[in-house]
Amino acid sequence: MARHLITSALPYINGIKHLGNMVGSMLPADVYARYLRQRGHEVLYICATDEHGTPAELAAKEAGLPVDVFCAQAHDAQKAVYDGFALAFDHFGRSSSAQNRDITQHFARKLHENGFIEERAIRQVYSLADERFLPDRYIVGTCPHCGYDKARGDQCENCTRVLDPTDLIDARSAISGSSALEVRETKHLFLLQSKLAGEVEAWIDANSAEWPTLASSIARKWLTEGLQDRSITRDLDWGVPVPADTWPELAAEGKVFYVWFDAPIEYIGSTREWADQDPAHRDWKSWWYEADGGEHPVRYTEFMAKDNVPFHTVMFPATQIGTREPWKRVDHVKAFNWLNYYGGKFSTSQRRGIFTDAALELLPADYWRYFLMANAPESDDTSFTWELFASSVNKDLADTLGNFVNRVLSFSRKRFGDQVPDGGPAGEAETRLGEQIAGLLAEYEGHLETLQFRKAAQALRALWSAGNSYLEEKAPWMQIKADPEAAALTLRTAMNLIHLYAVVSEPFIPTSARAVRAAFALPADDATWVTAEEARALAFVPAGTAFTVPPVLFAKITDEELAGYVERFGGEPAAAGA
Ligand code: 2FM
Ligand code: ZN
Repeated sequence: MARHLITSALPYINGIKHLGNMVGSMLPADVYARYLRQRGHEVLYICATDEHGTPAELAAKEAGLPVDVFCAQAHDAQKAVYDGFALAFDHFGRSSSAQNRDITQHFARKLHENGFIEERAIRQVYSLADERFLPDRYIVGTCPHCGYDKARGDQCENCTRVLDPTDLIDARSAISGSSALEVRETKHLFLLQSKLAGEVEAWIDANSAEWPTLASSIARKWLTEGLQDRSITRDLDWGVPVPADTWPELAAEGKVFYVWFDAPIEYIGSTREWADQDPAHRDWKSWWYEADGGEHPVRYTEFMAKDNVPFHTVMFPATQIGTREPWKRVDHVKAFNWLNYYGGKFSTSQRRGIFTDAALELLPADYWRYFLMANAPESDDTSFTWELFASSVNKDLADTLGNFVNRVLSFSRKRFGDQVPDGGPAGEAETRLGEQIAGLLAEYEGHLETLQFRKAAQALRALWSAGNSYLEEKAPWMQIKADPEAAALTLRTAMNLIHLYAVVSEPFIPTSARAVRAAFALPADDATWVTAEEARALAFVPAGTAFTVPPVLFAKITDEELAGYVERFGGEPAAAGA
């Protein structure tokens, strides 16, 4: 059986992430990881904070803290939010760890040995006002490709093109705003991607068949535009130092690796951190090294938003290939479009939209998890609006699922006491229901296997609705008058549906799912996935099982609350480019 390695793009350390970041990386990875674990697969879900580079230095400066202190605090703050969202990472590491430093330096040495790194003197932008070089985000200006006026020195957020600081039009320092810039010569290491282009292309040809078009088309676009050699070092104080044994002169000048060089390597570094915490994880390397063959080959799935695709499909694979060591490469790249806020951009730097910490202060994580996944920007950009959010919480979670659970359990308790009633053998309606549920479950599983989250959420909703239709059809509140046994059968069947929901909804709404499972006094809280036979039989919870009625699962969002959210967060689309 395969083992599943899952990573989600590492969130930058520079601040609490917004809902758009969450839905484009960590949340879908968590849903997938939970699903696979429930099905009995061995899963390793790894993430970390991306702590190097200019975003970290700029944020630390703004917070008035030394960068290491800032990163330690900001890591804990992000981790607390992810715990609040019930993200079940196996490890949430830090790219500034010693483990990542060692592996990054190892990669660089290997690339050098194999002739894929070269030292070059280049011309870099130097700020007279700031008395320093201005790499990447330290410089902003107008994108030469699309005209976006807040493009950063390393990449244009708007058109996703990778840039060099010297490409920018009307460039200015992000530190001081000064445009008193000059170009000076300095030495840097270059990754010779041009030499690796053929191999990267062959690898993409052989492996991208099952990637979503979004991922493969971005990868191809990059290849067609030609793989440029890329500078992988920077003049910064904070980062993985260039190893002195290999490049003494650059090390003495204090050069560090470019954040996009060490960040993907942190997927491995974080796994190593995970291993170092617990002797039981000693075999960490088997997840990453020579991991393709054997009895338990690793299947590796990466989750990310579209701006990250070039780095994961081209640059990181080129880095791995160039080591000439058998490092595990990605099998499936799940890429997402943007989640917008009323048609405008969510933006961390401009604090527009809803941030993950604020979201959790308003409502429990499951509300957000469900909404975000049901509306995930898979085939297109999608927009968050409070109206859509409230209607999906009220209709799907409160009415279709929550109300079903409470109605069935309260009614049964009132009429039959606090044990699942018997009601005798299943009849024709129950057989039909079982068939329907087994069919919908298979559909749901199919969408989760192929990482189609919106469709999976639709199938899940259809499972919940099937219970409501069954209940309406049987109408136990009528049956009870003429034929209490018939009502008991209906309720026993409905309670089995409830338990099934509480198992299969776990990937989307883990906290509520657990609360519902806990309502039944079964030998163990077992979230083990439901088999097709079990779905057909609807008899997992036997008559006589004690149960309790859980508190209301999902509170409806009232019109007043909705108006309050719109007022507080702003419901208008942002002005273009603002
Ligand atoms: O775009 C981002 O948010 C980056 N911090 C993602 C890094 S992913 C990885 F390769 F580390
Ligand atoms: Zn652009």
